[in-house]
Amino acid sequence: MSGSVIVGPGDDAGVFSLQEGNPLVVETVDIITPLVNDPFTFGSVSAANSLSDVYAMGGVPHTALALLGYSSCDFDLAVIKLILAGACDVLRKAGVSLIGGHSFDDPELKFGLSVMGTVKKDALLRAKGARPGDVLILTKPLGIGILSTALKARKNEDMSPAVEAMLTLNDKASASAVSAGAHAATDVTGFGLLGHAYNMARGSDTDFEIRVSGVPVMERVREFVEGGIIPEGAHNNLKFLEGKIDPGDSTEDERIVLADPQTSGGLLIALPIEGIGKFKASGVGFSVIGKVVPGTGRIRLA
Ligand code: CO
Ligand code: CO
Repeated sequence: MSGSVIVGPGDDAGVFSLQEGNPLVVETVDIITPLVNDPFTFGSVSAANSLSDVYAMGGVPHTALALLGYSSCDFDLAVIKLILAGACDVLRKAGVSLIGGHSFDDPELKFGLSVMGTVKKDALLRAKGARPGDVLILTKPLGIGILSTALKARKNEDMSPAVEAMLTLNDKASASAVSAGAHAATDVTGFGLLGHAYNMARGSDTDFEIRVSGVPVMERVREFVEGGIIPEGAHNNLKFLEGKIDPGDSTEDERIVLADPQTSGGLLIALPIEGIGKFKASGVGFSVIGKVVPGTGRIRLA
């Protein structure tokens, strides 16, 4: 008996059953380039980001392997030590052991983790499974990509709200989603809220109605978008979603924010309406951003 694949590519993480009756194994890898200037913070953010896909499956992470790409002819050992120290700080808080890693030559600095976790069969949250009548909740405000683009453009922008959001682990949100009986969940990352919502709606054979005014957005993000500070990824995400979204009377700027690529973003959760009270009681911050309706995998903005 060699076990079986429970969730393959296309979800936040892969899930494997080693043996009937035992917790399932959750595996994922993510690697990012620096989006903040401070190496310790970069390592911390990258670790939180890599752990997130395990939480998005309703799982608990246990071990991690570090992946580091750097230019061997031009690197600073002190910087690399700080990146690793930042990652270890987050892993410690998450109760995860770093048990190895690998480095490779790369002209551009990159860092990330491969993470192994477990999830009980009845706690598994997939990106599909949302049902008509569910409410859609989001656990972190949007704007991380736009704020980090502003930082790159102007150097001295205050990134602290985005850093705080990125360093907030999705562990409690995940546990609350499981105990509140969530039907589906995913973490909002590179494809933006709209991209990940589309993936979830399509996988669930439903439509998602998103109330634009209900979506939480970090301070100053709208102002930056008006000023033309827009990550390329937001444009790419919207282009990919062309024809898959009913824009309603939303503006282009609003859709840019909804498609802003996030790093270590919040969880998007499809929750039966009876679960809201329980989720609220858990103390995890969230906003109700819309609802699941019968359909074929479209996103309707209202
Ligand atoms: Co994910
Ligand atoms: Co990922």
